[in-house]
Amino acid sequence: MSRRDHLVRLRGQGPLVLPSLLQCDFGNLQAEVRRLEAAEVQALHLDVMDGCFVPNLTYGMPIVAAIRRLTDLPLDVHLMIADPGRYVEAFYEAGADLLTIHVEAADEPRAVLERIRDRGMAAGVALNPGTPLTTIEQLLDAVDLVLVMSVEAGFGGQAFNRVALEKLSWLRSRVAAGTVLEVDGGIDPTTIGSCAEAGATWFVVGSAIFRRQDYTATVADLVHRAALL
Ligand code: DX5
Ligand code: ZN
Repeated sequence: MSRRDHLVRLRGQGPLVLPSLLQCDFGNLQAEVRRLEAAEVQALHLDVMDGCFVPNLTYGMPIVAAIRRLTDLPLDVHLMIADPGRYVEAFYEAGADLLTIHVEAADEPRAVLERIRDRGMAAGVALNPGTPLTTIEQLLDAVDLVLVMSVEAGFGGQAFNRVALEKLSWLRSRVAAGTVLEVDGGIDPTTIGSCAEAGATWFVVGSAIFRRQDYTATVADLVHRAALL
């Protein structure tokens, strides 16, 4: 099974909540991953930031590789880095199953997306709230997933921006049936339903999970709300 097949399998499973590990307890990474597995999440969302494309630094290949060794869950790696084409091979080696680049960060996004797919990973393109859809319109045939940011990339814990809803609706009527629409930023029990209505099926959730004690109940509640259409 190729890494891209994980996405093919997951997209048939209805709404998915993907925990963003940005705010987990990195001193207890193994325990955190076990708690998320116990909460029956289907994949993990890993936020890579470079202090250049975004004004924040997180982690890179070694942490992705460490998480790869800890779990068989598919890894959805969200690159918030300048010139992401430089690191396609490195994140492949680290164990990414799905690699998402920001359209704003690459001079030739199509070429980078093709390299991601050539390596057997699923390819995603992300766009910030202020970036128009016209920037990705010509890339839709080259991606397995579109990541609609509902906050400015860079930090967890920001307020949901409703511009994401218009983008999701526009995309839903234009992407191929197999293309996943993912939304990221400010997703919580009050915002997840409107994102699902607008067409998202994958929901990245940071603070709304990691600020709670009971991951199982929190994830179940979010999935339930996403499924109520
Ligand atoms: C922001 C990241 C998100 C973030 C989500 O740049 O891409 O994945 O961690 O966190 P919350 O759910 O707190 O907005
Ligand atoms: Zn993210």
